[in-house]
Amino acid sequence: MATRKSSVDKKKIRVRNSGLVTLQHVEDYPDGNLYIGEALRNIPFKVKRFFLIKDFDNANVVRGKHAHKKLEQVIFCVNGSFSLHLDDGKRKQKIKMDNPCIGVILGQLLWHEMGGFSKDCVILVVADDYYKESDYIRDYEEFLSWAKRRVK
Ligand code: TYD
Repeated sequence: MATRKSSVDKKKIRVRNSGLVTLQHVEDYPDGNLYIGEALRNIPFKVKRFFLIKDFDNANVVRGKHAHKKLEQVIFCVNGSFSLHLDDGKRKQKIKMDNPCIGVILGQLLWHEMGGFSKDCVILVVADDYYKESDYIRDYEEFLSWAKRRVK
């Protein structure tokens, strides 16, 4: 059975409203490996929506650059690698995403940016609600004032 090295699972999450999600993993290599997520078990909410991000041809692109007021998500790197930058308004953390077994929770009021995508990178995001533009905070200063208000 092959073991794979990863940096994400060795990292402790230090920002608020985040955490790691571990998928169940059934190793069947070379006949294909299975990665299993179950709502309200290892995924901490009922999934209403998912989306994939792939086909990274622009090496310099930075995605995300927003926080959500209410939405909760978990982000996975199902292939390749990228860097996830988290910011709770007080602490910042950079996580190398390169292990399909490990997801990172993007909770409420967590500014996130993604960059450094490998060409073969495929991202999966699962979310607890449908797309709603009014839930986005896309301005960093506005995010900081929301985050300050939320800190007790
Ligand atoms: P956005 O969430 O800003 O992308 P990222 O965080 O990866 O940079 O979404 C990009 C565009 O896609 C934006 O115009 C909204 C649209 N969109 C939807 O219509 N539905 C969705 O579920 C998502 C995630 C985005």
